[in-house]
Amino acid sequence: MTKVLLVGGGAREHAMAEAIVRSGGALHAALPNRNPGILSLAKEHVLVKDTDAPAIAEAARKWGVELAVVGPDAALASGVTDALQRAGVAVASPTKAAAEIEWSKAFMRDLLEKHQVPGRVKYRTFRSEAGVRDAIQEMWPVAVKPIGLTGGKGVKVSGDHVRTVDEAFAYAKECLSGGAVIIEEKVEGEEFSLQAFCDGNHAVPMPAVQDHKRAFEGDQGPNTGGMGSYSGEKGLLPFVTREEYDQGVVILNAILQALRKEGRPFVGTIYGQLMLSKTGPRVIEINARFGDPEAMNVLTLLESRYVEILQAMAAGELPASLVRFAHDATVCKYVVPEGYGVKSMANEPLAVDEAAIAKEGARVYYAAVNQTGGQRGKVVEATTTTSRSVGVVATGATLAEANAKADRALAHVTGPHLYHRRDVGSAALIAKRVETMRRVRGG
Ligand code: AMP
Ligand code: GLY
Repeated sequence: MTKVLLVGGGAREHAMAEAIVRSGGALHAALPNRNPGILSLAKEHVLVKDTDAPAIAEAARKWGVELAVVGPDAALASGVTDALQRAGVAVASPTKAAAEIEWSKAFMRDLLEKHQVPGRVKYRTFRSEAGVRDAIQEMWPVAVKPIGLTGGKGVKVSGDHVRTVDEAFAYAKECLSGGAVIIEEKVEGEEFSLQAFCDGNHAVPMPAVQDHKRAFEGDQGPNTGGMGSYSGEKGLLPFVTREEYDQGVVILNAILQALRKEGRPFVGTIYGQLMLSKTGPRVIEINARFGDPEAMNVLTLLESRYVEILQAMAAGELPASLVRFAHDATVCKYVVPEGYGVKSMANEPLAVDEAAIAKEGARVYYAAVNQTGGQRGKVVEATTTTSRSVGVVATGATLAEANAKADRALAHVTGPHLYHRRDVGSAALIAKRVETMRRVRGG
């Protein structure tokens, strides 16, 4: 049995943990919270901040793990991969230098420009106020972003979050207090997530997924880490053609080549947040890890052995034949504390009837909750924190079937102050996405 170290304690990591155990790995976990799902699967665990690279490397040494994978972006940015490599562990995640593609939006934009990667957007980076206002005016409509990691919450887009040049400028000044701001052309279209396993040279793509960033139904309210996600039959989305999907894969491969040429080969899961525009997919953001919740969609479909994929990535040679996904559709909905995105109701009880969820044929993955009682496989009792609580995932031959199954399963996550977006994966919302693309394409 291969001893595999997993870093991180969210629902994404719970799904990774399950895939590791399902494919015969002996799970060793380094996580900051008592995630009931991961703890029940792990042979050993250590409670540690996921950015504490020395402590994580020390645990790996003590346990004698051979292979490691890192879930959260903050851990990658703080050099956890590098520390593990120095401890002699094979790591199926990017080094700090390769992960800069995520933790510095300026690095990402400059890299794509230098290497003429397809799907680029116009952008300008500023480190002081001079010229910012003019740039906003010139490039209007725009997206205004701080330069670093924001958990998907730091971006303001004209039309959605800021209405005037003055408002955009005021936000740009706020970003500048953190060091730098990027002003980007606003791309019109529908966003989707394209994840791929990478061995430094090639991207082996996974099914396309659509996340829902807005906190409330009907895409209202503030941006969040993601409220739920779905994937369609045969790995496509209802508004994405095979050709557009393939263009997305070309973009990811071009990014891998660019990183390799810069001496920063990318090993691990890459995740493109692509905006499907009139002219095809455009790059909104590149992440150096699985998406959360998107990991739950694709890992539920993964038919081949995740541990073998991790080994092959870390060894620098991943044959595409090693990666197989079921052709089903998936729907994942996140249950969150009431007020999530604005002011979460933390420390409130919730109960997860795992047996009833399993009976519906669905799965549940724990995120930022603390277990207080109950038993895995039966009813787990826990309390909420300020972040997302549990993800419920269902598959089906069609999206409608997966959605109905997810809804039935969600009835078995109960508590007085919980919320989830019922509309994620619904026929009405998907029809809206298809309609947006029809309008954007000018058809
Ligand atoms: P990010 O943190 O970069 O993922 O941005 C959060 C959200 O802002 C994205 O999911 C997009 O919906 C939106 N966004 C970011 N950049 C742009 C852009 N250049 N054009 C349009 N929307 C954008
Ligand atoms: N689904 C958004 C993220 O993982 O960044």
